[in-house]
Amino acid sequence: MKLEDIKTIGVVGAGTMGQGIAQICAQAGYKTILFDINAQVLEKAQQTTIQNLDKGIERGKLSEAQKAAALANLTYTGDTLQLHCDVAIEAVVERLEVKQSIFRDLAGINSPDTILASNTSSIPITQIAAAVPNPERVVGMHFFNPAHIMKLVEVISGAATSPEVAQTIKQLAEKLDKTAVMAKDSPGFIVNRVARHYYVESLKLLEEGVADVETIDKLMQASGFKMGPFELMDLIGVDTNFSVTTSMFEAFHYDAKFRPSRIQQQKVDAGHHGRKSGKGFYTYEK
Ligand SMILES: NC(=O)c1ccc[n+]([C@@H]2O[C@H](COP(=O)([O-])OP(=O)(O)OC[C@H]3O[C@@H](n4cnc5c(N)ncnc54)[C@H](O)[C@@H]3O)[C@@H](O)[C@H]2O)c1
Repeated sequence: MKLEDIKTIGVVGAGTMGQGIAQICAQAGYKTILFDINAQVLEKAQQTTIQNLDKGIERGKLSEAQKAAALANLTYTGDTLQLHCDVAIEAVVERLEVKQSIFRDLAGINSPDTILASNTSSIPITQIAAAVPNPERVVGMHFFNPAHIMKLVEVISGAATSPEVAQTIKQLAEKLDKTAVMAKDSPGFIVNRVARHYYVESLKLLEEGVADVETIDKLMQASGFKMGPFELMDLIGVDTNFSVTTSMFEAFHYDAKFRPSRIQQQKVDAGHHGRKSGKGFYTYEK
């Protein structure tokens, strides 16, 4: 599959990341089908897309005609059988078996050339591809949050990924106005591996009672970070952040430096998933 052969993109999962990924694909002129198993999430994604495009207009970055063109490129579905596409970008929960099952379903209804890209933050692409027909077309395409604003995309080749597929995805990321960086298939890739300690150590400080959430956030901001670790976890999704840490802890053979926090586990158990649920380390108006 070459860049110019890509006409339709299927985005699987319409949550925090899927919504923004679908938006930028539609803005770049691709017919974009956004899928989620949860109808409410799909509806919210539709509203958020309109809000984001309106903000773009307010800031003078977008015209009404561009907004209309982007919206015309987008369709929403709760039916996997509708996901006929040239590239599928998967952005569902951070669980290996769910990602594999989705890619197998997509492989069953699409051509063997359809590229299956995963937005996973931490799961090795080689592992995802191992259970998917034609694993050479499985690749990592890791966006950052919020996907319609953050410029970086990590492109990850698994052991079976063909160099042509990785190259096409790099070019696609650039077409989406992103800066693409090729990364090796190592748990957490580059950014999440380094950033993990921002969250893990902050949670340890909290567990040990060294400082509270607000103080840690304020200090880290004052020392130059754009966001404190707790407000950032709320933006990412406390559940997603916890799954990523857990996956990296396992992948690094239970190295204590990646140990997930009990405090974070409790937040996940309570449904306090951050901004998307209205409550995390902070409380938000829904
Ligand atoms: N949140 C971030 O900051 C961030 C950044 C980069 C990458 N990621 C990665 O993106 C992926 C999605 O994360 P998110 O934060 O958008 O999660 P999210 O919880 O906001 O959204 C996940 C969506 O997947 C849907 N889903 C679950 N199972 C499904 C299935 N079987 N089929 C279709 N949809 C299903 C859910 O309904 C939900 O809407 C994860 O792999 C995560 O590691 C997240």
